Amino acid sequence: MKLLKTLYVMLFMMIASSAQSTQNPIKFLTDPFLQTPTQSAVHVIWFTEFQGDQHWVEWGPDLQYKTMANSKLMSRIRHEIKDEAKNLIKNENSNVWRHEAIISDLSNHDRLPYRVVTASNDTFITSSTFSFAPLPAAEKPLKILLTSDHQLKPMVAANLQKAAETIGAFDAVFFAGDLVEIPDGFEDWFSSPKSFFACLQGHANTVFGTTQYVGASIIQNAPIFPAIGNHDVMGRYSLDGDLLSQFKNPYPRESVQKHFPDASPEELKNLSFNSDTYEEMFSLPLNPAGNNTYYAITVGDVRLVTLYATRIWRSGLTTPTLRGKYQESVDTLTHPEKWGHGDFIFEPLEKGSPQYEWLVKELESDEFKNAKIKVVMLHNPLHTLGENAIPPYCDPIQTIHNDSNGNITNVTYEYPMANDVLIRDIEPLLEKHGVDLVFFGHSHIWNRFESSGGMAYLETSNVGNSYGAYTSLNGIKRDTMVPAPNLPDYAELEDPNGLEPVMPTIAPLENDQGKKLPFISSNTISVFSVLDTGTRSIDSYYFDTEHPEKGVIKFDTFKLRE
Ligand SMILES: [Fe+2]
Repeated sequence: MKLLKTLYVMLFMMIASSAQSTQNPIKFLTDPFLQTPTQSAVHVIWFTEFQGDQHWVEWGPDLQYKTMANSKLMSRIRHEIKDEAKNLIKNENSNVWRHEAIISDLSNHDRLPYRVVTASNDTFITSSTFSFAPLPAAEKPLKILLTSDHQLKPMVAANLQKAAETIGAFDAVFFAGDLVEIPDGFEDWFSSPKSFFACLQGHANTVFGTTQYVGASIIQNAPIFPAIGNHDVMGRYSLDGDLLSQFKNPYPRESVQKHFPDASPEELKNLSFNSDTYEEMFSLPLNPAGNNTYYAITVGDVRLVTLYATRIWRSGLTTPTLRGKYQESVDTLTHPEKWGHGDFIFEPLEKGSPQYEWLVKELESDEFKNAKIKVVMLHNPLHTLGENAIPPYCDPIQTIHNDSNGNITNVTYEYPMANDVLIRDIEPLLEKHGVDLVFFGHSHIWNRFESSGGMAYLETSNVGNSYGAYTSLNGIKRDTMVPAPNLPDYAELEDPNGLEPVMPTIAPLENDQGKKLPFISSNTISVFSVLDTGTRSIDSYYFDTEHPEKGVIKFDTFKLRE
């Protein structure tokens, strides 16, 4: 009788479960993620592909409290629509809704469980249970993941999975830009098996050999603090054509104003570039310009200052029809509204610019001066062996070449090293104010440097793939990227800005001749780094996706200056 009863209950549950799945087709687009903790509050954010009726967070020791969320439609995330032969027809706005609840009254709490609930048409869905915490108190040792340049790259899921397996729970993630490949791409954020949320929330699916990697459940439980990279800025907007072409086609705002003087603010944005998706995605402190593209925040003992230091990346090749770093295409010489304007900078950072003035104020603030660990995070490197050390980070100087009849024969761009904003204006400022760590990405390489004053520079962007290291140790010169004559004499090898890379302290990789290498630049070996605020140390680890049996290798450790 008892067995019969058990079978009956099981059958009933199976029927009920099946009824639920047919009657309840709604689902979350992501798990929740955490933003901007304060001493008494934290933001919880999640996404659905429908507006829904009500959304809330259940939290507390017994999930007994309820906080309602506000919902907003993401304005620019788009799907690419293709025909049966996979040819692109058009792109169209997606229906991605962002739900955000601010949980307050947390001042007397440490870590607490939470889950999110979405209700729509008399049915509701509930997430798994995760945990959040208010801002960690100063003195509390934290483990912070330092990462960047995920961009749908193949090794990201393996990288994050191994990081979480090695370290356990992280307290925060510092992400030095290039969150996705195409800033407005639905696939990039949500639906690709290598998407931003899939990798950082443990739902990815990538396979190397016979091993599948899913990433790790990191940002459901730890706040993420991003910096904006070139892959987080979208170019000229259109519902025609593919999103990649639009990403690659930004235009300086002042030039738009010149050619389209009657453009409204929205048209100006659509005809130039925008970071709307990035700005809408994250709830971060606002700067005086009223957005979150650069900001400062305190995380435990760390004062984190994040800069908007990125520019469009164009090819260094000088094929005449190419719109590149150093030239316009010969095809558009008589159409200046189609010019690319070289690798132009999206947001000014030179001395006297609003961002620079904000940075000075921040570096002189009590929060910054009193912080035990002072970190500045930006996307563009100051010192690197990687490809993106060139050209110097400055506004391109345009020269229009004419023939004797006044016809334009060429348009070229130069980047004088003396004008490098990061080296000329920013580096001395950071050194003067005692910054401990300058953290950046962009070249898809791991390497680190130290200034004569002891300020550490770390690039830990060899997460998913590499664009190479340029050093006498492997003999590959940067000028292989710019083969044409008469180009400026940028450094072919090493760090153009004159620092020697620091050799990893534990287990550097070696080249074919058995010589130790002060970098990792690889498409099969992935690297992650972790800041331990208790010991002031940064540990770096690598994992060889071709030899998973070798496990995770800690190859470098160093301490930030006291
Ligand atoms: Fe980048």
